[in-house]
Amino acid sequence: MPGTGQEKLKVLIRRATIQKRVREVAREITKDFKGERLHLIGVLKGACIFLSDLVREINLDTSIDFIAVSSYGKGKLSSGQVRVLKDLDSSIEGLNVVLVEDILDTGITLSYLLRILRQRKPHVLRVAALLDKPSRRLRPVKGNYVGFTIPNEFVVGYGLDYAERYRNLKDVCILSLPPG
Ligand code: IMP
Ligand code: MG
Repeated sequence: MPGTGQEKLKVLIRRATIQKRVREVAREITKDFKGERLHLIGVLKGACIFLSDLVREINLDTSIDFIAVSSYGKGKLSSGQVRVLKDLDSSIEGLNVVLVEDILDTGITLSYLLRILRQRKPHVLRVAALLDKPSRRLRPVKGNYVGFTIPNEFVVGYGLDYAERYRNLKDVCILSLPPG
């Protein structure tokens, strides 16, 4: 497992477990939107790996778009402020939208995104998140499709980063930094 310096990685969710769960979530979405069109919106950059695996397991007429927001600086702490860095390419009016997130943590990012996306009048707006850390919630938001509920640990891999690193790990790992 690659790590740099004093940073330590410990596997929390193995790749095979992730794969299996992603297929289950995709099946649930396919069932819920049967006979309808679906529009997935990935929240960059963290959700890109999850979305790529998820969309290939969804058996519906599906389109995708991406939005990029920043709520965190370079490290582990949320600044509590959300900004749109890259907006959607196309209108979502009247569409069945599933917003795809890497992780629900404080809920600040998601509550902001839901607010601005609802104003654009989608037919349906739901949330799929690979991971959920409910113990950290500051806003009352929930995912409609959640891969795994995890304890209050900082995790990286399968799209999730620490200062832009570790997104390429195939497992979701707990990252520990040296004290001080
Ligand atoms: P929230 O606004 O606090 O819910 O944070 C959501 C965003 O923070 C996620 O989309 C991630 O990019 C980032 N984040 C929250 N927890 C973690 C973590 O444990 N590891 C990596 N990124 C995280
Ligand atoms: Mg991030």
